[in-house]
Amino acid sequence: AGGGRVFSGIQPTGVPHLGNYLGALENWVSLQSQFPSVLYSIVDLHSITQPQDPALLRSNILDMAASLLACGIDPERAILFQQSQVSEHAELSWILGCLTTMPRLRHLPQWKMKSKQKKDGSVGLFTYPVLQAADILLYKSTHVPVGEDQVQHLELAQDLARIFNNHYGDLFPEPAALLSCTRKVKSLRDPSAKMSKSDPHTMATISITDSPDDIALKVRRAVTDFTSEVTFDPEARPGVSNLVTIHAAMARMGVEEAVAQAAGLDTGAYKRLVTEVVIQRMTPIREEIQRLRADPEHLEEVLSQGSCRARELAAPVLREVRQRVGF
Ligand code: ADP
Ligand code: NA
Repeated sequence: AGGGRVFSGIQPTGVPHLGNYLGALENWVSLQSQFPSVLYSIVDLHSITQPQDPALLRSNILDMAASLLACGIDPERAILFQQSQVSEHAELSWILGCLTTMPRLRHLPQWKMKSKQKKDGSVGLFTYPVLQAADILLYKSTHVPVGEDQVQHLELAQDLARIFNNHYGDLFPEPAALLSCTRKVKSLRDPSAKMSKSDPHTMATISITDSPDDIALKVRRAVTDFTSEVTFDPEARPGVSNLVTIHAAMARMGVEEAVAQAAGLDTGAYKRLVTEVVIQRMTPIREEIQRLRADPEHLEEVLSQGSCRARELAAPVLREVRQRVGF
């Protein structure tokens, strides 16, 4: 697709779930063949905006590396790296932070939400979107895959590119959003909420490393309703419709086709069908994660090579930034 560079990041806060896979990672994999340059970062600097246990964080970083590789991120085609190994992210973040204002950040939805939950949010949590802008601009990225919830953060990155360019002369392209048109996967226990790793209910979320038995149990327990026929109507029947969404996405077909396959099945039988489809798609991924996770040195090597390549791209950009700023 001509030129262009894609950047995206994911926090190392546990193994991805089905929502992450279908809403983000599947798309990350296909972007590798659509753009000549693609960077995917395990954004550990972002993750410490919330308290993290060091040993667990270290282990989560390797879990995430294994998960991304197992899902199809290919280090030959994408630069897969650990954010904290490229110190330019933090340095550019500081410079960009000096180009925006507190009121601009205070209105961003994530801060509003998280600082409401926790009255004493950290400075890092507040400036998180500035670091995100630095992540993107550091590589002069042109395209950023985002969920709807991240659109306003990307707008900050676009603003900061413009502000920097106005102040110091053209340097950064304004990154464009690649909005994924995938449907949100909902919690299996409360289909009015999205599936999320922060959901405390263990039966609500299917992790990509769940065993076939776990998957079967969680799908069996999924909240549906008192109509036994399978239809797709997310407003009136969110639970069953969520199963249809999962089924369709896992089998790579449209929801109409998934509903057609459910003809004649009651929701109990349909849950067994959905279980089979999920297990079939997830088994090779789970097995590959296990295989990769057994060799942490290899994973560390992949990340350190990726970080090296990322630094090679970042260093000249930051040199230019420093010079323009007057350092
Ligand atoms: P979580 O809410 O589980 O912490 P994140 O906010 O870290 O997930 O999201 C990582 C990526 O996965 C984002 O691109 C986000 O849009 C996508 N994503 C997260 N949850 C879902 C979901 N339930 N359905 C579809 N996509 C999702
Ligand atoms: Na989240």
